[in-house]
Amino acid sequence: MTSPKDILQKKNQEALLLGGQNRIDAQHKKGKLTARERLDLLMDEGSFEEIGKLVTHRSTEFGLEKQKFLGDGVITGYGKVDGRLIYVFSQDFTVFGGSLSEAYAEKICKIMDLAMKNGAPLIGLNDSGGARIQEGVVSLAGYADIFYRNTLASGVIPQISAIMGPCAGGAVYSPAITDFTLMVEGSSYMFVTGPNVVKTVTHEEVSSEELGGASTHSTKSGVTHFACANELECIENIKRLLSYMPQNCEEEPLRYPAASNPRLVPALNDIVPANANTPYDMREVIDGVVDGNSFMEVHQNFAENIIVGFARLDGRSIGIVANQPAVLAGVLDIKASVKGARFVRFCDAFNIPLLVFEDVPGFLPGTDQEWNGIITNGAKLLYAFCEATVPRVTVITRKAYGGAYDVMNSKHIGADMNYAWPTAEIAVMGPKGAAEIIFRNDISTADDPEAKLAEKVAEYTEMFANPYRAAERGYVDEVILPETTRIKLIRAFEMLQNKAVSLPRKKHGNIPL
Ligand code: HXC
Repeated sequence: MTSPKDILQKKNQEALLLGGQNRIDAQHKKGKLTARERLDLLMDEGSFEEIGKLVTHRSTEFGLEKQKFLGDGVITGYGKVDGRLIYVFSQDFTVFGGSLSEAYAEKICKIMDLAMKNGAPLIGLNDSGGARIQEGVVSLAGYADIFYRNTLASGVIPQISAIMGPCAGGAVYSPAITDFTLMVEGSSYMFVTGPNVVKTVTHEEVSSEELGGASTHSTKSGVTHFACANELECIENIKRLLSYMPQNCEEEPLRYPAASNPRLVPALNDIVPANANTPYDMREVIDGVVDGNSFMEVHQNFAENIIVGFARLDGRSIGIVANQPAVLAGVLDIKASVKGARFVRFCDAFNIPLLVFEDVPGFLPGTDQEWNGIITNGAKLLYAFCEATVPRVTVITRKAYGGAYDVMNSKHIGADMNYAWPTAEIAVMGPKGAAEIIFRNDISTADDPEAKLAEKVAEYTEMFANPYRAAERGYVDEVILPETTRIKLIRAFEMLQNKAVSLPRKKHGNIPL
């Protein structure tokens, strides 16, 4: 008779085999790792505890009662990443294409509930053909159970989704609700309807990659925050992202030993060009200010006219939002506003202080922007900053024009400290546009209208294109030399570390969606 110990050993062995060696080989042939290999890379060695290893599906139709695999296509559990607790599910494409059954969804829900009760991040490694077709509506119900939990967990624990294979149909909505999505180039795709349906409905011919691959979603749609060269890079990015976050909304992010002391950074003095219309790369400013190599850009290839990402300043985690004068002159458009707003809200939800670098000529004009709702979408960024209660500091490096001045974390909407470099221009609009409007008569009746315009532009520039009017009113707390920025910011965030502000009591606000 087989002993209980032998039975358990056999079952554990079987569970480790996923869908069998042939299927593992097929997964490798596609250039993909298996669900277990991914977990081995993600988790600290020996820390993973599996939950529900022996679960199987309960289907009887379509001959499924004869096809059962221990674990049923998803590995779930908890363990440590860099010594900190996380909950994780890893979808196993080798079992029914990683498709989601009732039992499979229950496994995921179980660890989501544990993650919520115990206040630790949830990581999903997705590689699935979607709803298990043989199960019908119970599979759809399983998805809805997950979406519901994703939503309740939003803003309570960080949720990160890695897409490492197919993620199609309604299945895309779980990653979409989570805080960050990462995709792998060449082997992952996400779409609501695949190329065949697209062809039938719209007569467009498009490949899976073009429709919903990592490049598409990291550049065109912004659905994914990271396009990773391979699965290893994807997992490294997840670990790095986690390092900036607290475990939950009640905690502060970890403070790391500072990479370098507060110091003058003379190189910052030479970044803003003498000509106000010459572009420069705001990343140079960011890198000059934050702790060495600590900047992790998010959404790097989407709406590049705004930069968002995490960094450390004197070892403290901060979220950076910066206009990028090197792309579209750093103008705010629909995509940039939405990108910025979502990032601001993440940081605010998880107690990550916000640092804004501002060089913005205004909102992008035009029918395309107006007809697609720059008003509603621009308001998202405004709203996100207005309601953020974390420490908030702004540095105006050059232009701060018009409504964009208000939106980009101005004092008036709750920024705690506002610095300006001497090159700052804080005004209703650029000198040329302003002179053309307010001196229209003088210019049109002048003997030499061009010379008159130049004279009036110079007059306006002298009077308004500087930071001193704003500083006189206290809208700018101090005009600082660029080289002192790192020191000023370290002190400001230290001073603000115990900031406590609460919003008016409400059920929830109504952000203009
Ligand atoms: C059951 C599935 C499955 C599914 C794949 N398989 N998807 N089984 N339900 N949804 C099985 C296959 O039958 C096959 O089994 C094995 O998984 C591997 O699949 P292949 O097709 O051989 O792999 P590949 O060529 O890599 O193609 C992957 C794929 C394709 C593109 C994902 O399998 C596919 O198109 N699957 C169907 C996708 C789909 O329409 N899903 C429903 C979407 S709607 P064997 O035994 O032959 O190895 C949806 C609604 C969610 O998900 C709603 C939430 C609100």
